[in-house]
Amino acid sequence: MSRFFSTLNYSSVNEDWRTEARALEVGPGDRVLAITGGGRPLDLLLPGPDRVVAIDAVPAQSALLELEVAAMRALHFDAYASFLGLTPSSRAERGRILDPLLAAFGPEARAFWDAHRSLVGRGVLRGGRWERFFRMGSLLGRLVRPGKIRRLFAFEDLDAQRAFVRERWDTAGWRWINDVFLSRLVLRHVLGDPAFHAHAAVEPGRFVRERMQESLLSVLARDNFMVSLTLRGRLAERDLPPRLTRQGTAAIRKRLDRLEIVTGDVIAHLEAAAPGTYTRFSLSDVPSYLSQEDFERLLDGVARAGAPGGRFCIRLFLSRPRFPERLAGVLVREPDLERRLAREDHAFAYDFIVGRIAG
Ligand SMILES: C[S@@+](CC[C@H](N)C(=O)[O-])C[C@H]1O[C@@H](n2cnc3c(N)ncnc32)[C@H](O)[C@@H]1O
Repeated sequence: MSRFFSTLNYSSVNEDWRTEARALEVGPGDRVLAITGGGRPLDLLLPGPDRVVAIDAVPAQSALLELEVAAMRALHFDAYASFLGLTPSSRAERGRILDPLLAAFGPEARAFWDAHRSLVGRGVLRGGRWERFFRMGSLLGRLVRPGKIRRLFAFEDLDAQRAFVRERWDTAGWRWINDVFLSRLVLRHVLGDPAFHAHAAVEPGRFVRERMQESLLSVLARDNFMVSLTLRGRLAERDLPPRLTRQGTAAIRKRLDRLEIVTGDVIAHLEAAAPGTYTRFSLSDVPSYLSQEDFERLLDGVARAGAPGGRFCIRLFLSRPRFPERLAGVLVREPDLERRLAREDHAFAYDFIVGRIAG
């Protein structure tokens, strides 16, 4: 656990921002609480809420968000994209841009980036533990089946991709490599992210492989950022979140002063918040890190700190905590929407707890 809490674990895009947009319907007047992760709260600024509080228990995730905010404020899009590593640049150029940005940071973020200049130099979007692990997996994949992966990303016609995936993709050798790479042993000792093993209720390798297969039958590989990250080791140009597009950043930049960055435990934060503080909750897959007892504390916190009529969206990755019956009338789930979002999410390996706070 300790290694996880002292490093940058998520640095690019691990969730499909459209899902939270559909689930939460954020708009003017909203007060949003969002898990920070790799910068996901920035996308929630797009529809113009009054306030977004970004919270993460890991200081490096807050430091990343401070870096992204400072870069978005100071740089025009082309420089911002190359500084983060979305487009090419040099270490020296990124270092030259970093120095004046550091002045705007809080002491913790400044100390973090002073000590981790090399992450910025290589392009910070590539620097998370998750990104490095899956880039390694993608290298392995391209080593054992270079032709098939090239072909998969060449399809522009979904029916042709479907036929290829049904007939040629899911071989015994591929299943074996995938399931070893995503075995509990490798995940625990190489990746070291508790989300992948601490409370996993399903077998990671098989689960991710089967979900990816379903996704490849419904979305072109080249239009899916997650398939691209895990099989090519890079983001898909045609499937970027607003915070990484020219148009998106133009709108988000104007709203950066509505963002507050907090480092801390989301449950403690909710328990200390006044009733009705938030109207929207974007809680990523925090249950991946929680026992059943703490999962219920999280839900109690949402019910307490949430305004009547508010909305919540929680992702479930490998854990399957039980939703307590006693809260069913307070946090009113929307099963049809949950199923639709799970089907459509380009990050394909999530189930959802989505709904409205009774009022
Ligand atoms: C799986 S990650 C989300 C990353 C994400 N998929 C993305 O797109 O960036 C979940 C995040 O929740 C944070 N986290 C876990 N437990 C937490 C807690 N109790 N309070 C606040 N943040 C927590 C982790 O540090 C991590 O950054």
